[in-house]
Amino acid sequence: MRLIRSVDKIQKIVGQVRKRGKLIGLVPTMGFLHEGHLSLVRIARKKCDFLVVSVFVNPAQFGPKEDLRRYPRDLKRDLRLLKIEGVDLVFNPSVREMYPAGFRTYVEVQEWSRLLCGTSRPAHFRGVTTVVLKLFNILQPDVAVFGRKDFQQAVIIQKMVKDLNLGIQVITGPIVREKDGLAMSSRNIYLSDKDRKNAVVLYQTLKWVREAHKNGLRDPGLAISRMRRMIKRKGGRIDYIEMVDKNTLEPAKKLKKRTLIALAVFFGRTRLIDNIIL
Ligand code: PAJ
Repeated sequence: MRLIRSVDKIQKIVGQVRKRGKLIGLVPTMGFLHEGHLSLVRIARKKCDFLVVSVFVNPAQFGPKEDLRRYPRDLKRDLRLLKIEGVDLVFNPSVREMYPAGFRTYVEVQEWSRLLCGTSRPAHFRGVTTVVLKLFNILQPDVAVFGRKDFQQAVIIQKMVKDLNLGIQVITGPIVREKDGLAMSSRNIYLSDKDRKNAVVLYQTLKWVREAHKNGLRDPGLAISRMRRMIKRKGGRIDYIEMVDKNTLEPAKKLKKRTLIALAVFFGRTRLIDNIIL
């Protein structure tokens, strides 16, 4: 497994691999890897001949008051884990390499980038689509794998790929959870012991809607107010709870199969997201 930091160098290497007719796969990450990331690496490994994993904490997707500086990093450990998974190449560029002085070009999937997480993080998805498009252009992968933990992100990237005719196959992988149900996240280490225990309520409320829907609940408003109460009781500060169509992200008038229930909740200063599809 090779570690590459320069855009020029990685383009040369991957270009040669492509010439030999190999299928190239990409799993973009911000590092501090956990089983959620590794599950995507395993999916990608099966779908391609040459697997690249990028590790890059992307400043463009963090708001001015967000956790860019304290975002957890441990490249040594990441490399050890990726080597075990049989990754061919790790791309770990510097911020300067990705955003040289004078950088001015951003790409945005309009409207969808302002829904759900985009309401409280208005420039977030613009930063995500910009860095992902750069990675796509640099590496020109045949397949790229994203997690459904960040469901809106995956929908937005699929839309960008379609709208801009990128011709990349985007695959999504299921949410990997801790034993007690909390969705794995690099940010979980920020949580105090108490908040870590209370955060289990997020998945519990999602499972509750799923059950309630099976038993005939159809009204999103009712479901949301019940979820709010359950989460507040555990000390969570709700950013949003929304029930939307999983393809268009439009608010669901009625709960039905394939409705996406998505939420973002703060425990202390830590913002956690989770979702479920009915
Ligand atoms: P990051 O948060 O590091 O996540 C990298 C990939 O892992 C994303 O596709 C995310 O959805 C997936 N992932 C994270 N936790 C997961 C879990 N518990 N189960 C399954 N998949 C999980 O998402 C980003 O980085 C960035 O926005 C990025 C796409 C790399 C662009 O900078």
